[in-house]
Amino acid sequence: MRRPVIAANWKMHKTIAQALQFVKEFLPLLEGVEDRDVVLIPPFTALHALAETLRTTSIKLGAQNLFWEEEGAFTGEIAPSMVVDAGCTYVVIGHSERRKYFQETYPLVSKKVQAALTAGLIPIMCIGESLSERKKGKTFEVIKNQITEGLKGLQIQRSEQLVIAYEPIWAIGTGHTATPEQAEEVHSFIRELIRRTWGKEIANGLRIQYGGSVKPENMAELMAMPDIDGALVGGASLKPDSFARIVKYDQ
Ligand code: PGA
Repeated sequence: MRRPVIAANWKMHKTIAQALQFVKEFLPLLEGVEDRDVVLIPPFTALHALAETLRTTSIKLGAQNLFWEEEGAFTGEIAPSMVVDAGCTYVVIGHSERRKYFQETYPLVSKKVQAALTAGLIPIMCIGESLSERKKGKTFEVIKNQITEGLKGLQIQRSEQLVIAYEPIWAIGTGHTATPEQAEEVHSFIRELIRRTWGKEIANGLRIQYGGSVKPENMAELMAMPDIDGALVGGASLKPDSFARIVKYDQ
């Protein structure tokens, strides 16, 4: 059994005070929830304060990005060791918004995934097709290229070292969630690609999140699919009550 991993991607939302207020309201709602990994992914500026507050809890922290170099003259960038130092266990890499606004490509994503692994972080590597690619029947081809390029040359020893997030771009922030069947079809394809790359054991253990308009109302049906192992949640993770309902989808 794969342990579900449910993550709140806050994107460019919340000051330090707002992040702390969220945690204050969120923690009591999570009492008794122990069989899944819950991850908060705030802006960099709120990481340290949240790390202090979450130290005695099982909630993990993630960063939204990193740079692949360890130090040097790279104005505006954050090194993998700095992300670890700020208290993170996870890091999102290659989110479609970074691909769209910051021209991130999969060869670059691959360098970041490698840097994250070297630093001992768990990369959440994002992949997903656009609406026009889906309409042209290119979804599987696009996913295959993203996986091949994003994971090129990488080696992992344990399935827990990496998470893949399937986020169809047409479902992000649009309210149009993929149906559970549409998502499952791609998730099982991804697992098969992983099996061909790293073998059966890693493929069986690797967690694949779905992302794109996940809400309290649709989480349970997505999680009922055999290859969906969690969610990367944007908009619906900004309110404690809404995100808690997503985390407790089966209760
Ligand atoms: P959304 O965002 O839940 O607001 O669609 C998901 C994401 O971008 O990770």
